[in-house]
Amino acid sequence: MKKCLLFSTLCIVLLYLFNGWPKDFQTLLDKSPSSLSDWSSSRNVTVLLWYWPFGRRFILKGDVCWDLYHIPRCRLVDQRSLFHSADVVVFHNKELVEGRQKLPLELPRPSGQRWAWMSLEAPVYNGNLEQYANIFNMTVSYRRDADVTVPYGELIPKEDKEQLTGDIPLNKSFLLCWVVSNYRSQHKRSEVYRELNAIVPVKVYGRWAKRHLPSRALLQAMSRCYFYLAFENSADRDYITEKLWRNAYQGGAVPVVMGPSLGNYKAVLPANSFIHIDEFASVKDLAIYLQQLAEDKKRYSEYFTWRQRWRVKLYTDWRERLCKICSQYGALPPHKVYSDLEAWVNAIDI
Ligand SMILES: *[C@@H]1O[C@H](CO)[C@@H](O)[C@H](O)[C@H]1NC(C)=O
Ligand SMILES: *[C@@H]1O[C@H](CO)[C@@H](O)[C@H](O)[C@H]1NC(C)=O
Ligand SMILES: *[C@@H]1O[C@H](CO)[C@@H](O)[C@H](O)[C@H]1NC(C)=O
Repeated sequence: MKKCLLFSTLCIVLLYLFNGWPKDFQTLLDKSPSSLSDWSSSRNVTVLLWYWPFGRRFILKGDVCWDLYHIPRCRLVDQRSLFHSADVVVFHNKELVEGRQKLPLELPRPSGQRWAWMSLEAPVYNGNLEQYANIFNMTVSYRRDADVTVPYGELIPKEDKEQLTGDIPLNKSFLLCWVVSNYRSQHKRSEVYRELNAIVPVKVYGRWAKRHLPSRALLQAMSRCYFYLAFENSADRDYITEKLWRNAYQGGAVPVVMGPSLGNYKAVLPANSFIHIDEFASVKDLAIYLQQLAEDKKRYSEYFTWRQRWRVKLYTDWRERLCKICSQYGALPPHKVYSDLEAWVNAIDI
């Protein structure tokens, strides 16, 4: 009798092992964070990209996330036939402009699958998102409050073996530089530029000025400027682009910024590493400040103190952004729906 009982218990255990635990127990497991990480560390997360952003494909050979970015257990795929096994299906907003019919809404979504909305554009360029209410479970964006934050750049602490001094680029030829390809005179940034240029000379590069800079020459050119006008084309929360990270920070010019609020920049960047136009009562005051600062080598050099501890990392490859979904996957809430994506995207700057 006892043997029989033991045998049937064993059978039940084996049955569960092969067929998976019943649903309730699985839910119980999912709720406990430790088991969640055990679970996520033992299997691949499959991220399916539905449309390549802007129609440009990247190669997905081998274990891309591991090989390129050292992100483990991340299967990045673009074959739609893998929909049913995908943990996350990613939709880049640009390819959705034609409307909801661009989404595979007719396919039954496997339970637990998340749909991700991805965009790196400022809100005004995302089109009308009202039609995408109650569809997406997560956001992939430069916003710090996105489920997966993929900024244009960020600062990474330097490792000991890296040179911890941080050279200060002081071989300067120009007070103030700007790179602009798409000049619109009615833009606020163009207005500020014109006002500034009437007081101090601004060296302008780019298509509009017919002084094109190939990207390999960009950093070298920027290093010769004391200041760089890192003016964003919109004033939206966390929208800080490569104008700051690459042109100014990497190039070695102190960024004069216009875009999100001063508080927003302060939350993301080291103190005393940038100059925000809101810190001045007028453009004239700003111009005077820049001139004085350029003459004071010691005070100017202090704007590069951050380089002792930090280095700039740029994000430019879509694969890296997609792989980052896997790094965040275990920390995603078990259930989430963007009931009003339009409102989330247009949340005003704080
Ligand atoms: C995880 O995905 C990678 C990349 O596609 C693959 O090389 C690897 O074999 C997969 N591992 C498992 C356990 O499925
Ligand atoms: C400073 O910049 C000028 C102009 O680009 C260059 O010719 C010169 O070699 C630079 N000097 C140093 C010390 O880097
Ligand atoms: C994802 O969103 C869909 C549609 O609103 C919803 O039915 C599903 O439960 C959500 N899944 C998760 C994992 O949040």
